[in-house]
Amino acid sequence: MKLRIAILSLLFWLSPMAMLHAHEAHRNNEPDPVTHSPADIDTGKKIKIDQSRTIPNQQAEHGHKVGTSTNFNIVDFLGRLHPAAVHFPIALFLVAALAELIVIINPSAGVGSSIRFLVWTGAAGGVVAAILGWLAGGIRMSDRSEILGLHRWTGTGIAVAGLFLAFLSSAPANSSKRTVFRIGLAGVAFAILIQGYWGAEMSLGPNHMGMKGS
Ligand code: HEM
Repeated sequence: MKLRIAILSLLFWLSPMAMLHAHEAHRNNEPDPVTHSPADIDTGKKIKIDQSRTIPNQQAEHGHKVGTSTNFNIVDFLGRLHPAAVHFPIALFLVAALAELIVIINPSAGVGSSIRFLVWTGAAGGVVAAILGWLAGGIRMSDRSEILGLHRWTGTGIAVAGLFLAFLSSAPANSSKRTVFRIGLAGVAFAILIQGYWGAEMSLGPNHMGMKGS
């Protein structure tokens, strides 16, 4: 029994450590890295990297710098939890939108209370993700990185809109409030998909899905 508790505690502490990859470039307000396509890499085409940025070897591909400080910094640590936290609002809002669609098609589907639960937990997750995002990206009003600027304000908007949706989630069917809720939920579901794409562009590198060609 003690062994099981020890293993579970170890896993609990190791899980956030596993994604403690660096994000100093974003917190230091650095511009976006040079865009290149996977085709450039495949064909061995020379990739121009801005030499003014101190990005070591393979980390240059992802626009990250590896942290060198040995001092524990709580703000930095919380910021590094942002990539783990974002999964909750993304999944919860998308499933809430799917459940609302099911209710539109079949009003007697009986998922009304689940929708309220999904939207409230999605809203809470959105607020937590946005706060951790501000700690990850640095606290400032404008960014030299265009994608970080878009991501910062869309994410903040999603957190605020999510709270409004939570209060609207109890609106009765066929009311005008329910229509506003449905339009808002569709908007947040769409925005959070784009938001996730922009986030991964920052973490994994420009054109990380290889959709832009060469
Ligand atoms: C609901 C709101 C948000 C969602 C769903 C979201 C989503 C994401 C996703 C999916 C990633 C990629 C994570 C990965 O590495 O796998 C990411 C990264 C990032 N996000 Fe957000 N985000 C949100 C809000 C914010 C806000 C408000 C900021 C404020 C600046 C922010 C700053 C960042 C930064 C700096 C990164 C890169 C992390 C790194 O390099 O370690 N995010 N986000």
